[in-house]
Amino acid sequence: MPNVIEAKRLKLAYPRHEPVITDATFRVATREFVFITGASGSGKSTLLKSMYGAMEIAGGELSVGGIDMRSISGGKLYKLRRHIGIVFQDYKLIKEWTVEKNVMLPLIIAGFPKDVCRAQAAKLLNHVKLSHKADKFPMELSGGEQQRVAMARALAHNPFLILADEPTGNLDDYSSQVVWELLERANEELEATVVVVTHHIPEMFSADYRHLMIENGVVYDIR
Ligand SMILES: Nc1ncnc2c1ncn2[C@@H]1O[C@H](COP(=O)(O)OP(=O)(O)OP(=O)(O)O)[C@@H](O)[C@H]1O
Ligand SMILES: [Mg+2]
Repeated sequence: MPNVIEAKRLKLAYPRHEPVITDATFRVATREFVFITGASGSGKSTLLKSMYGAMEIAGGELSVGGIDMRSISGGKLYKLRRHIGIVFQDYKLIKEWTVEKNVMLPLIIAGFPKDVCRAQAAKLLNHVKLSHKADKFPMELSGGEQQRVAMARALAHNPFLILADEPTGNLDDYSSQVVWELLERANEELEATVVVVTHHIPEMFSADYRHLMIENGVVYDIR
């Protein structure tokens, strides 16, 4: 199986700042489920950003989906992101859009006809058990419901890679459980590779998950 992500002595820094990540060497194979942990400010979000091309590579190498992230340009990056599903701690739904339209967003961007977008959104909203909220606006939903909409949106375009940054950080136990199950199903049934930043690895994953830990700028490939 080819590697979905490959980092070699990767260094990441914000402009005019000391590097946040000084040395990351790891591989994520197709269909793996990987957790990233580390203290607040250790660089978890920064590492994730590099995986969707939102960080300049300050040194070393990084490839995602076989694409060299050091030289990725506007058009190519845009294309790559169309195949990545991203989930954030604060959901990042579009307030002015209905739940249904939020889920359709990646498909609208990809230029699918409206009936295809509609059908796919209906399928996904059913999958996250929110069909009855299709015409509501994000503000009318609870945090857990909003995150499930964000999950549906992330899955809408059958991504080969799902990147999630503390997706359960603002959720109660019930909604957290739903989100973890959705991620697990995306991994198992949709065969997506999943990379999740979290403070706590839930017990349901106790077996053989992959784990990268960041400490003092170094990414340790624990397992
Ligand atoms: N846009 C930015 N410009 C400069 N420095 C930044 C920027 N964003 C983050 N940093 C710094 O980079 C370091 C790592 O930040 P990052 O957000 O990756 O941490 P994190 O591990 O995700 O933390 P948390 O658990 O609190 O989300 C921190 O010291 C932070 O201050
Ligand atoms: Mg963070």
